[in-house]
Amino acid sequence: MLINSPKGTKDIFPPESDMWRRIESKFAKICSLYGFGEIRVPVFEKAELFQRGVGGTTDIVQKEMYVFEDRAGRKMSLRPEGTAGVVRAFIEHGMSSKPFPVKLFYMLPMYRYENIQEGRQREFRQLGLESFGSEGPESDAEIISLLEQFFDELGIRKRKLKINSLGCRACRAEYVKKIREYFQGHLDELCPDCRKRFENNPLRILDCKIDGEKEIIKNAPVMRDSLDDECKAHFEALMNSLELLGIDYEVDLHMVRGLDYYTRTVFEYVSENVGTQGTICGGGRYNDLVNALGGPAVPALGFALGAERLILEMRAQGLLDSEEKKNGVYIASIGAEAAGEAGRIAYQLRRAGVRAEADLCSRALKAQMKYAGKSGFQFSMVLGDNELESKTAELRNMETGEKEKVDFFDVKSFAKKLNAN
Ligand code: HAM
Repeated sequence: MLINSPKGTKDIFPPESDMWRRIESKFAKICSLYGFGEIRVPVFEKAELFQRGVGGTTDIVQKEMYVFEDRAGRKMSLRPEGTAGVVRAFIEHGMSSKPFPVKLFYMLPMYRYENIQEGRQREFRQLGLESFGSEGPESDAEIISLLEQFFDELGIRKRKLKINSLGCRACRAEYVKKIREYFQGHLDELCPDCRKRFENNPLRILDCKIDGEKEIIKNAPVMRDSLDDECKAHFEALMNSLELLGIDYEVDLHMVRGLDYYTRTVFEYVSENVGTQGTICGGGRYNDLVNALGGPAVPALGFALGAERLILEMRAQGLLDSEEKKNGVYIASIGAEAAGEAGRIAYQLRRAGVRAEADLCSRALKAQMKYAGKSGFQFSMVLGDNELESKTAELRNMETGEKEKVDFFDVKSFAKKLNAN
C-alpha cells in the first residue's frame, strides 16, 4: 500500500527547491553583512525547555507541541520554534563570555500540531536570528533594518511593520492586574479558552483567534498606559531610530504575540495578501529568558520569518514568475562510442565549472533532445561518427538557433565560451 507524507508536511523538489535555496542564501548573506553567524540546534530538545521557555500556558505548548517519550522514557519535544533552543545553546556553551553582542541566525524546520491551511503547516521552516547582550533600542532597530533589506532585495512590497511594547516584568504585573479587573465582569462574553486564560495568563485573551474581533477585546486597556518611564523611553527611542532609518511602521497597541518570553519590543510583519495567515514574521525582545533558563541575566532579542508564508507572499506579488536563466550544455550522442565521448566531455566541462549532461538512458536522438529542451539548457550539441572523426561539433544555442563550430577537445576555450554566455 502507498504511504503518503504526514498531514501538514510538504515535499520540496526542483524547481521549487532552487527557489528555496536562493531565498536561504540571500538571508544568510544579509545576516552576515550584519554580523550574524549561523547556528544549528537539534530538532528535538527536552520538552521542559519549551514549557519553561515559551510558556506552559501558551497554545504552542498546550495544544501544538509534538511531545514524545524516547526509549529511555525521557520526555522530549520536536522544536516548535527556534528561540528556546538557541538560548539553551548560548547558555550551555558559555557564550556570554564572548564580546557582546553575540549574533546568531538559523534556517531550520519547526513543528506544530496545528489545523492546517494554506500558510499553516505542521512542519514549516523559519529563517530567524537571535542577538544577545545589547539592551539599547538600536539593536531592535538593527534587526528590523535587516528584515527591511531582506524584503527589499526579494522585491516584497505590500508589507506592514507593526510594533508594540510589552514593558518589563514590573509594568507587566501592573498591566495584568488592570486586564483582570477589566475582564472580571465580562467572563461570560469570552470563549471557554479565554476563561481559562483569565486564570492562567490573561494577556493571551488579547491574542485570541476566536474573541479577537469582539468589542470587549478591542476596548480592553492597553499595555502602553502601564509602561514605566524606562520602558516608555525605550519604545520612544526605537520609534525615533526607525524614523531615522526611514522605516515605516504602525503602532499596534493590542499586539501581544503568542509566546510568553517577550519583554518590551514586539513586532510583526503582516501582508495584505495572505489574509488570516498574513503574519510573515514575528519577533521581539526577551530580556529575562536567558536568566529564566538558568543562564546569566543577558538581554536578548530576535525574530523568525515563516519561509512558506514568505514564498506565498512572493507568489501573490508575482515575484516567482520570472523563469530561471537557461544555462549549460547538453551533449547528445548517436552510438555507443559517441556516448562514451559525450560522457568524457561532460565530465571535463563540469570540472571546468560548466553545467553539462550527456544521455544516461540509451535514448534515441529525438528523445535526448526533448530532455535537453525541458531541462533548461542554453546549448546543445550532437556527437556522431563525423564529429568523432573531425573532433569538432556544432554548438547550438537552443534559444536563438544560432550554430557555431567548436573543438570539443579544447575544453578550456570551450568552457570559456559556455561560461561567457
Ligand atoms: P512565531 O510568531 O510563533 O514566533 O513564529 C514566527 C513565524 O513563523 C510566524 O510569523 C509565521 O510566519 C511562521 N509560522 C508560525 N507557525 C507556522 C505554521 N504552523 N506554518 C507556517 N508558518 C508558521 C516565533 O517562533 C519566535 N521564536 C520568533 C522569535 C525569535 N522571537 C524572538 N526571537
